[in-house]
Amino acid sequence: LGGEKGCPLSERAMAFDPFEGPYQVDPAEALRWARDDEPVFYSSKLGYWVVSRYDDIKAVFRDNLTFSPRIALEKMTPVSREAQEALASYGYAMNRTLVNEDEPAHMERRRALLDHFLPENLLPRRERVRALVRERMDALVDKGRADLVQEMLWEVPLTVALDFLGVPEDDMETLRRFSVAHTVNTWGRPTPEQQLEVAHSVGRFWQYAGKVLEKMRAEPDGPGWMHQAIRRNAEMPEVVTDSYLHSMMMAIIVAAHETTAHASANMFRTLLTHRDAWDDVCADPSLIPNAVEECLRYAGSVVAWRREATRPVELGGVRLPQGAKLLMVTASANQDDRHFEEAARFDIYRDNAVDHLTFGYGSHQCMGKNIARMEMRVFLEEFTRRLPHLRLEPQEFTYLPNTSFRGPDQLWVAWDPARNPERAQP
Ligand code: HEM
Repeated sequence: LGGEKGCPLSERAMAFDPFEGPYQVDPAEALRWARDDEPVFYSSKLGYWVVSRYDDIKAVFRDNLTFSPRIALEKMTPVSREAQEALASYGYAMNRTLVNEDEPAHMERRRALLDHFLPENLLPRRERVRALVRERMDALVDKGRADLVQEMLWEVPLTVALDFLGVPEDDMETLRRFSVAHTVNTWGRPTPEQQLEVAHSVGRFWQYAGKVLEKMRAEPDGPGWMHQAIRRNAEMPEVVTDSYLHSMMMAIIVAAHETTAHASANMFRTLLTHRDAWDDVCADPSLIPNAVEECLRYAGSVVAWRREATRPVELGGVRLPQGAKLLMVTASANQDDRHFEEAARFDIYRDNAVDHLTFGYGSHQCMGKNIARMEMRVFLEEFTRRLPHLRLEPQEFTYLPNTSFRGPDQLWVAWDPARNPERAQP
């Protein structure tokens, strides 16, 4: 286990706990010591090697043969027998999707499913997103106070996600609850009792995904990305497999909406706590694209991602054995002073903000990044225009304890409706 720079099992390494304490408050700050002194350390509590510096994480993302993504959706917490049995009773068989598939299968599949993500195919969606945001805003703009998460920021991304996927908008509240269960199941540390409850929700989510798939198969010319995947499954079943379809149906609903909902909530929180930046964006909307990137860098919604070493390899001066599991804390990379000048400073004018690793990097980089960016930009365009006097209410922020997905459970904001530049019906 020897590293060049001291023993990787230092006291701080042993004390590292991503499910509570400093990491839950601010994952980047919580790993400042690691970036400075032990950039790659072994966490015995997790059974993972934690990687904290920008260059090391980018090197791992770049080489997905040495660092396989196959553990990306593995359960972080070993599952109790009861929970396993509960999952099995639903026929739960979550398997490879895209994000956790090795080469060469991954690239073949990614290429077969790329069209819908091309910028020219996304552009027409922007005005639909705007209409949706406006409609939700009309409902709250005269109220003076709102929890943005509850009243805007989960529902819009979920609606956009289902529309993009071509999945019928049946029961959004249930889907939201299922998504939270999936996050806890994959990246959380549930107690044995919670495990059982979570297992039942995830099992129901799995069956729901199967039913939706059946319904969609019956409509072969249907719209959206999942319909395209179903057609590809018929044309090239060895590339877009049956198992992929069912696993992806479940995983993508979460990937496409929770990530964006959290990123948007983090963005509003960050901008409203840096009032000068908010006021600048209100005065000059052309600042919005870079402000969005800086928010994704400074307070991203995915804060850590995983890989597994397929051979013994050295990283950041530490020798890793074959099979080493890596937790790459991208939030830490995003605040690494070795790459970003005064990295802990929020600066919407930063010229390399876009270098952040919140969408991953390399051949698995997030396919939905431009959809997420587009939604976040539209949120800002609409809010800075219609509620420039928005302010954050004093509140305690709470987060769902897990290693990877991060966004506040609630985000209370207030404003004086008498000062609204536009009324409910602009
Ligand atoms: C992969 C983050 C939104 C679809 C990923 C990965 C991350 C990520 C970290 C893994 C990258 C890697 O291994 O290098 C995010 C964040 C989002 C977001 C932070 C919002 C702010 C979306 C949306 C969609 C989406 C809206 C779809 C509509 C995907 C897909 C992959 C992926 C399909 C797998 C790509 C592959 O393995 O080839 N995302 N994502 N994501 N994301 Fe996203």
